[in-house]
Amino acid sequence: MTRPIVIAVDGTAASGKGTLARRLAAHFHFAHLDSGSLYRLTALRILRAHGDLRDEVAAVASARAVVPADAGRYDLRGREIAEGASVVAAIPGVRAELLAWQQHFARDPGAAGAVIDGRDIGTVVCPDATAKLFVDAAPELRARRRRLELEAAGEPASEAAILAEIGARDARDRNRAVAPLLRAPDAALLDTSDLDIDAAFAAALALVRPRIEEALAARQRG
Ligand code: C5P
Repeated sequence: MTRPIVIAVDGTAASGKGTLARRLAAHFHFAHLDSGSLYRLTALRILRAHGDLRDEVAAVASARAVVPADAGRYDLRGREIAEGASVVAAIPGVRAELLAWQQHFARDPGAAGAVIDGRDIGTVVCPDATAKLFVDAAPELRARRRRLELEAAGEPASEAAILAEIGARDARDRNRAVAPLLRAPDAALLDTSDLDIDAAFAAALALVRPRIEEALAARQRG
């Protein structure tokens, strides 16, 4: 079996990693998986049933019932869902339920390669990824970008409240016992604080391109 070609894009909340991952996937004609959507779907099901996000049995059952294709059917961007996702993501059984699907996607993405963004892709889901990025930016800038995004979507919000939310989410993600948010030792750090999205994409591409082109060439040679 040929070795999968995977770009792992991890990073902090609202760092722009999702946009970068999508653009990298389009550039290389790879398939893209937003792994956060799996945790968001897990939280959504519980919130809709007015359940308790901290109830391990309910959260694991919800993760087991996740249909990844549903990510396109629901609006998962809401702040309550983001917060809920980080609560269920700290439950080891939830992560175990979602791991196999993510690894299957990496092995069999239905394209020449996969780009997966999340928090633990380069550390746990695909430790052998072909290329790894860790995306970050100053919290104040992430909060400003998210406020502008929400405003454009017709959901005005206070920047201070967003800053507090992403701070709390990062802290929960960094401090959980299983698969915490951290930069893999072999991940290239991309700080987008001073970069607009085009400059950030150019920087991301420059970091991953040598490894991806080498892997694609090796595959062609057989
Ligand atoms: O990336 P996104 O903001 O959609 O992720 C929502 C939440 O899901 C994160 O705050 C994190 O708690 C969780 N998550 C995770 N591992 C991933 C992807 C997301 O724990 N690979």
